[in-house]
Amino acid sequence: MLRFCLALLIALWVCAPIDGDLHAADKPQERRGDPIAGKRKTAGCNGCHAVAGMKNVPNLGGQGTAYFVAAMRAYRDGARGHATMRDVAAQFSERDLVDLAAHYADVAPIGEAAAAAPPDVSTPCTQCHGPEGAQSAMPEVPRLAGQKPAYLEQTLRAYRSGARAHPIMQQQAAALTDEQIGELAAYFSGRPGLIVK
Ligand code: HEC
Ligand code: HEC
Repeated sequence: MLRFCLALLIALWVCAPIDGDLHAADKPQERRGDPIAGKRKTAGCNGCHAVAGMKNVPNLGGQGTAYFVAAMRAYRDGARGHATMRDVAAQFSERDLVDLAAHYADVAPIGEAAAAAPPDVSTPCTQCHGPEGAQSAMPEVPRLAGQKPAYLEQTLRAYRSGARAHPIMQQQAAALTDEQIGELAAYFSGRPGLIVK
Protein backbone atom coordinates (compact mmCIF):
# COMPACT_ATOMS: atom_id res chain seq x y z
CA MET A 1 0.00 0.00 0.00
CA LEU A 2 2.81 2.33 0.94
CA ARG A 3 4.56 1.55 -2.31
CA PHE A 4 1.38 2.15 -4.21
CA CYS A 5 0.91 5.53 -2.49
CA LEU A 6 4.48 6.51 -3.18
CA ALA A 7 4.13 5.52 -6.78
CA LEU A 8 0.95 7.54 -7.02
CA LEU A 9 2.58 10.58 -5.44
CA ILE A 10 5.54 10.34 -7.79
CA ALA A 11 3.21 9.95 -10.73
CA LEU A 12 1.26 13.03 -9.67
CA TRP A 13 4.45 14.98 -9.10
CA VAL A 14 5.86 13.98 -12.46
CA CYS A 15 2.65 14.36 -14.38
CA ALA A 16 1.36 17.63 -13.01
CA PRO A 17 4.01 19.90 -14.52
CA ILE A 18 3.97 18.03 -17.80
CA ASP A 19 0.23 18.36 -18.00
CA GLY A 20 0.52 22.06 -17.16
CA ASP A 21 3.13 22.63 -19.83
CA LEU A 22 1.15 20.79 -22.45
CA HIS A 23 -1.88 22.81 -21.59
CA ALA A 24 0.02 26.06 -21.97
CA ALA A 25 1.52 24.92 -25.25
CA ASP A 26 -1.95 24.16 -26.57
CA LYS A 27 -2.98 27.78 -26.24
CA PRO A 28 -0.07 29.96 -27.21
CA GLN A 29 -0.68 33.62 -26.46
CA GLU A 30 -4.41 33.43 -26.59
CA ARG A 31 -5.32 37.10 -26.78
CA ARG A 32 -7.79 37.38 -23.99
CA GLY A 33 -8.41 40.87 -22.81
CA ASP A 34 -8.08 41.91 -19.20
CA PRO A 35 -11.35 43.55 -18.11
CA ILE A 36 -9.76 45.26 -15.11
CA ALA A 37 -7.01 46.83 -17.23
CA GLY A 38 -9.73 47.73 -19.74
CA LYS A 39 -11.83 49.51 -17.16
CA ARG A 40 -8.87 51.75 -16.29
CA LYS A 41 -8.71 52.85 -19.92
CA THR A 42 -12.31 54.05 -20.05
CA ALA A 43 -11.80 57.44 -18.37
CA GLY A 44 -11.99 59.15 -21.74
CA CYS A 45 -15.08 57.20 -22.82
CA ASN A 46 -17.39 57.73 -19.91
CA GLY A 47 -18.27 61.36 -20.61
CA CYS A 48 -20.10 60.11 -23.67
CA HIS A 49 -20.76 56.37 -23.45
CA ALA A 50 -21.67 56.18 -19.76
CA VAL A 51 -24.35 58.85 -20.13
CA ALA A 52 -27.81 57.45 -20.72
CA GLY A 53 -29.18 60.71 -22.08
CA MET A 54 -26.80 60.93 -25.05
CA LYS A 55 -29.12 59.59 -27.69
CA ASN A 56 -26.66 59.18 -30.54
CA VAL A 57 -23.92 57.55 -28.50
CA PRO A 58 -24.30 53.76 -28.59
CA ASN A 59 -24.53 51.58 -25.50
CA LEU A 60 -21.41 49.48 -25.13
CA GLY A 61 -22.20 47.42 -22.02
CA GLY A 62 -22.61 43.82 -23.12
CA GLN A 63 -21.41 44.31 -26.68
CA GLY A 64 -19.44 41.35 -28.05
CA THR A 65 -15.64 41.56 -28.04
CA ALA A 66 -14.98 40.73 -31.70
CA TYR A 67 -17.44 43.35 -32.93
CA PHE A 68 -16.10 45.92 -30.45
CA VAL A 69 -12.51 45.49 -31.62
CA ALA A 70 -13.56 45.50 -35.29
CA ALA A 71 -15.52 48.73 -34.75
CA MET A 72 -12.55 50.44 -33.08
CA ARG A 73 -10.23 49.36 -35.88
CA ALA A 74 -12.72 50.59 -38.47
CA TYR A 75 -12.76 54.05 -36.88
CA ARG A 76 -8.98 54.12 -36.59
CA ASP A 77 -8.46 53.05 -40.20
CA GLY A 78 -11.12 55.42 -41.50
CA ALA A 79 -13.30 52.59 -42.84
CA ARG A 80 -15.99 53.89 -40.52
CA GLY A 81 -16.16 57.65 -40.64
CA HIS A 82 -16.58 59.53 -37.37
CA ALA A 83 -14.06 62.22 -36.48
CA THR A 84 -14.30 61.92 -32.69
CA MET A 85 -14.18 58.16 -32.62
CA ARG A 86 -11.29 58.16 -35.11
CA ASP A 87 -9.25 60.34 -32.74
CA VAL A 88 -10.28 58.22 -29.77
CA ALA A 89 -9.44 54.91 -31.46
CA ALA A 90 -6.07 56.17 -32.71
CA GLN A 91 -4.81 56.48 -29.12
CA PHE A 92 -4.99 52.77 -28.39
CA SER A 93 -2.80 49.77 -29.12
CA GLU A 94 -4.27 46.43 -30.14
CA ARG A 95 -3.68 45.21 -26.57
CA ASP A 96 -5.68 48.20 -25.24
CA LEU A 97 -8.55 47.44 -27.62
CA VAL A 98 -8.74 43.83 -26.45
CA ASP A 99 -8.73 44.96 -22.81
CA LEU A 100 -11.41 47.59 -23.44
CA ALA A 101 -13.51 45.01 -25.27
CA ALA A 102 -13.20 42.58 -22.34
CA HIS A 103 -14.36 45.28 -19.94
CA TYR A 104 -17.42 46.20 -21.97
CA ALA A 105 -18.34 42.58 -22.66
CA ASP A 106 -18.04 41.79 -18.99
CA VAL A 107 -21.66 42.36 -18.13
CA ALA A 108 -24.38 39.86 -18.63
CA PRO A 109 -27.06 41.34 -20.80
CA ILE A 110 -29.61 42.02 -18.18
CA GLY A 111 -33.13 42.93 -17.51
CA GLU A 112 -36.47 41.65 -18.41
CA ALA A 113 -38.89 43.22 -20.75
CA ALA A 114 -42.48 42.47 -21.45
CA ALA A 115 -42.91 40.30 -24.51
CA ALA A 116 -43.33 42.28 -27.69
CA ALA A 117 -44.42 41.06 -31.09
CA PRO A 118 -41.53 41.41 -33.52
CA PRO A 119 -42.34 43.44 -36.62
CA ASP A 120 -42.45 41.30 -39.79
CA VAL A 121 -39.57 43.25 -41.22
CA SER A 122 -37.28 42.00 -38.42
CA THR A 123 -37.41 38.35 -39.55
CA PRO A 124 -34.22 38.42 -41.67
CA CYS A 125 -32.43 40.49 -39.04
CA THR A 126 -32.76 37.92 -36.29
CA GLN A 127 -31.21 35.24 -38.51
CA CYS A 128 -27.89 37.01 -38.06
CA HIS A 129 -28.39 39.13 -34.94
CA GLY A 130 -30.01 36.30 -33.01
CA PRO A 131 -33.48 36.00 -31.48
CA GLU A 132 -34.60 39.48 -30.38
CA GLY A 133 -31.22 40.78 -31.59
CA ALA A 134 -29.79 39.67 -28.28
CA GLN A 135 -26.97 37.35 -29.23
CA SER A 136 -25.57 36.30 -32.55
CA ALA A 137 -23.87 33.00 -33.20
CA MET A 138 -21.32 34.99 -35.25
CA PRO A 139 -18.90 37.06 -33.20
CA GLU A 140 -18.61 39.87 -35.76
CA VAL A 141 -22.35 40.54 -35.64
CA PRO A 142 -23.27 43.13 -32.99
CA ARG A 143 -25.95 42.91 -30.35
CA LEU A 144 -28.90 45.15 -31.12
CA ALA A 145 -31.12 44.36 -28.13
CA GLY A 146 -31.11 47.27 -25.69
CA GLN A 147 -29.26 49.60 -28.04
CA LYS A 148 -30.45 53.21 -27.98
CA PRO A 149 -33.27 53.72 -30.48
CA ALA A 150 -31.92 56.96 -31.97
CA TYR A 151 -28.56 55.29 -32.62
CA LEU A 152 -30.22 52.27 -34.28
CA GLU A 153 -32.28 54.56 -36.45
CA GLN A 154 -29.42 56.77 -37.54
CA THR A 155 -27.26 53.70 -38.18
CA LEU A 156 -29.83 52.01 -40.39
CA ARG A 157 -30.22 55.25 -42.36
CA ALA A 158 -26.44 55.45 -42.71
CA TYR A 159 -26.30 51.93 -44.14
CA ARG A 160 -29.20 52.73 -46.45
CA SER A 161 -27.48 55.84 -47.83
CA GLY A 162 -24.08 54.15 -47.92
CA ALA A 163 -22.61 56.67 -45.43
CA ARG A 164 -21.68 53.63 -43.33
CA ALA A 165 -20.26 51.10 -45.70
CA HIS A 166 -20.81 47.41 -45.11
CA PRO A 167 -21.89 45.18 -48.00
CA ILE A 168 -24.26 42.97 -45.99
CA MET A 169 -25.90 45.72 -43.99
CA GLN A 170 -26.17 48.09 -46.95
CA GLN A 171 -28.08 45.37 -48.75
CA GLN A 172 -30.25 44.69 -45.70
CA ALA A 173 -31.13 48.36 -45.26
CA ALA A 174 -31.47 49.31 -48.92
CA ALA A 175 -35.20 48.76 -49.22
CA LEU A 176 -36.27 49.80 -45.72
CA THR A 177 -38.66 52.74 -45.47
CA ASP A 178 -38.31 55.38 -42.74
CA GLU A 179 -41.33 53.86 -41.07
CA GLN A 180 -39.83 50.37 -41.03
CA ILE A 181 -36.55 51.75 -39.68
CA GLY A 182 -38.53 53.36 -36.88
CA GLU A 183 -40.32 50.08 -36.11
CA LEU A 184 -37.05 48.11 -36.09
CA ALA A 185 -35.33 50.64 -33.83
CA ALA A 186 -38.25 50.64 -31.40
CA TYR A 187 -38.42 46.85 -31.33
CA PHE A 188 -34.72 46.04 -30.87
CA SER A 189 -34.06 48.86 -28.40
CA GLY A 190 -36.92 47.56 -26.25
CA ARG A 191 -35.49 44.05 -25.92
CA PRO A 192 -33.29 43.24 -22.89
CA GLY A 193 -29.62 43.38 -23.77
CA LEU A 194 -27.05 46.14 -23.99
CA ILE A 195 -26.74 48.65 -21.18
CA VAL A 196 -25.12 52.03 -20.61
CA LYS A 197 -21.70 51.41 -19.12
C1 HEC B 1 -17.19 62.75 -27.48
C2 HEC B 1 -18.02 61.56 -27.28
C3 HEC B 1 -17.35 60.20 -27.35
C4 HEC B 1 -16.24 59.75 -26.66
C5 HEC B 1 -15.35 60.52 -25.70
C6 HEC B 1 -16.09 58.34 -27.02
N1 HEC B 1 -17.07 57.96 -27.90
FE1 HEC B 1 -17.27 56.12 -28.73
N2 HEC B 1 -18.81 56.83 -29.88
C7 HEC B 1 -19.33 58.12 -29.83
C8 HEC B 1 -20.35 58.26 -30.85
C9 HEC B 1 -21.18 59.49 -31.15
C10 HEC B 1 -20.41 57.01 -31.53
C11 HEC B 1 -21.29 56.63 -32.72
C12 HEC B 1 -20.49 56.96 -33.96
C13 HEC B 1 -21.09 56.43 -35.25
O1 HEC B 1 -22.23 56.77 -35.54
O2 HEC B 1 -20.40 55.61 -35.92
C14 HEC B 1 -19.45 56.14 -30.87
C15 HEC B 1 -19.24 54.80 -31.23
C16 HEC B 1 -18.41 53.94 -30.56
C17 HEC B 1 -18.29 52.53 -30.84
C18 HEC B 1 -19.07 51.74 -31.87
C19 HEC B 1 -20.23 51.04 -31.18
C20 HEC B 1 -21.14 50.30 -32.12
O3 HEC B 1 -22.17 49.80 -31.64
O4 HEC B 1 -20.85 50.20 -33.30
C21 HEC B 1 -17.36 52.03 -29.97
C22 HEC B 1 -16.88 50.59 -29.89
C23 HEC B 1 -16.90 53.12 -29.14
N3 HEC B 1 -17.55 54.26 -29.54
C24 HEC B 1 -15.97 53.01 -28.13
C25 HEC B 1 -15.47 54.09 -27.41
C26 HEC B 1 -14.42 53.97 -26.43
C27 HEC B 1 -13.79 52.65 -26.01
C28 HEC B 1 -14.15 55.23 -25.97
C29 HEC B 1 -13.11 55.66 -24.98
C30 HEC B 1 -11.77 55.11 -25.13
C31 HEC B 1 -15.06 56.14 -26.69
N4 HEC B 1 -15.82 55.40 -27.55
C32 HEC B 1 -15.10 57.51 -26.50
C33 HEC B 1 -18.95 59.11 -28.96
C34 HEC B 1 -17.85 59.07 -28.13
C1 HEC C 1 -26.42 38.29 -43.05
C2 HEC C 1 -26.27 38.78 -41.69
C3 HEC C 1 -27.03 40.03 -41.28
C4 HEC C 1 -28.37 40.31 -41.46
C5 HEC C 1 -29.43 39.47 -42.17
C6 HEC C 1 -28.61 41.58 -40.80
N1 HEC C 1 -27.45 42.04 -40.25
FE1 HEC C 1 -27.23 43.79 -39.22
N2 HEC C 1 -25.24 43.47 -39.11
C7 HEC C 1 -24.57 42.38 -39.60
C8 HEC C 1 -23.13 42.59 -39.45
C9 HEC C 1 -22.02 41.63 -39.88
C10 HEC C 1 -22.98 43.86 -38.86
C11 HEC C 1 -21.67 44.61 -38.55
C12 HEC C 1 -21.47 45.60 -39.69
C13 HEC C 1 -20.45 46.68 -39.46
O1 HEC C 1 -19.40 46.37 -38.88
O2 HEC C 1 -20.73 47.82 -39.87
C14 HEC C 1 -24.32 44.38 -38.65
C15 HEC C 1 -24.58 45.61 -38.07
C16 HEC C 1 -25.85 46.10 -37.81
C17 HEC C 1 -26.12 47.33 -37.09
C18 HEC C 1 -25.10 48.27 -36.47
C19 HEC C 1 -25.06 48.06 -34.98
C20 HEC C 1 -24.10 48.96 -34.28
O3 HEC C 1 -23.89 48.74 -33.09
O4 HEC C 1 -23.56 49.90 -34.88
C21 HEC C 1 -27.48 47.47 -37.05
C22 HEC C 1 -28.27 48.60 -36.43
C23 HEC C 1 -28.05 46.33 -37.74
N3 HEC C 1 -27.02 45.51 -38.19
C24 HEC C 1 -29.40 46.11 -37.89
C25 HEC C 1 -29.94 45.11 -38.69
C26 HEC C 1 -31.33 45.01 -39.05
C27 HEC C 1 -32.41 45.94 -38.53
C28 HEC C 1 -31.45 43.94 -39.89
C29 HEC C 1 -32.70 43.45 -40.59
C30 HEC C 1 -33.39 44.41 -41.42
C31 HEC C 1 -30.12 43.35 -40.03
N4 HEC C 1 -29.24 44.08 -39.29
C32 HEC C 1 -29.84 42.21 -40.78
C33 HEC C 1 -25.14 41.24 -40.14
C34 HEC C 1 -26.47 41.14 -40.51
